[in-house]
Amino acid sequence: MAGPLDAVKAIHNAFRNDIDAIDAAAYAAAKGNGDLSAVIARYEFFNEILDWHAQGEEKAVFPKVEEIAPLVAEAYITDHRGLDALFASMNDKISSKDALQTARVTAAFKFHLDIHLDKEDAHLYRILGERVEMPEQGKIVGIMAGEVPQDRFPELVQWMYPLMGLDDRENMTRIWQMVMPEPAFAGAKGLIQQTLGDEWSALTGRIPELAS
Ligand SMILES: [Fe+2]
Repeated sequence: MAGPLDAVKAIHNAFRNDIDAIDAAAYAAAKGNGDLSAVIARYEFFNEILDWHAQGEEKAVFPKVEEIAPLVAEAYITDHRGLDALFASMNDKISSKDALQTARVTAAFKFHLDIHLDKEDAHLYRILGERVEMPEQGKIVGIMAGEVPQDRFPELVQWMYPLMGLDDRENMTRIWQMVMPEPAFAGAKGLIQQTLGDEWSALTGRIPELAS
């Protein structure tokens, strides 16, 4: 059964897939014609979501981890500030239309982000999962979700669902169904359906009540 922390794992996978695409597009631009439009189309929203996610972690996850495992969270805050610096640098290189420098910084971004997310999954969220009861985990994930401005929620769905595999889509949807009030979930369901198009039926195959 999906627990609240599976929602975090799912969004982490979406970040991994998006930075792969951004890095591949930056590499192609550096090797080929220097056209950075594919990178530009993705990187700003990617970073905005990463920022909401990091703020949610700093507000809800890190203080809880500090209580149950002192001195652990500090290292992850350092990672977050590293991601901030990488974004500033990416922004700078893209603004100056330098494809080679952009590819160098996206490669560094991807390397740092992948390691950061792997550590969070294997270490930070493992500690949280083992030492914090399920209802408290639910509250933490609820606070994190609250960092997304309401009017940007449709964009979040349109960004996230295509970047997730079926297991993560199922987990995320089940968790939203658990934590969202009925009308809010009905709205989310409509957005997911619209976003997934032909792939919606695979999700209703996993969660049959969505089809009703
Ligand atoms: Fe993080």
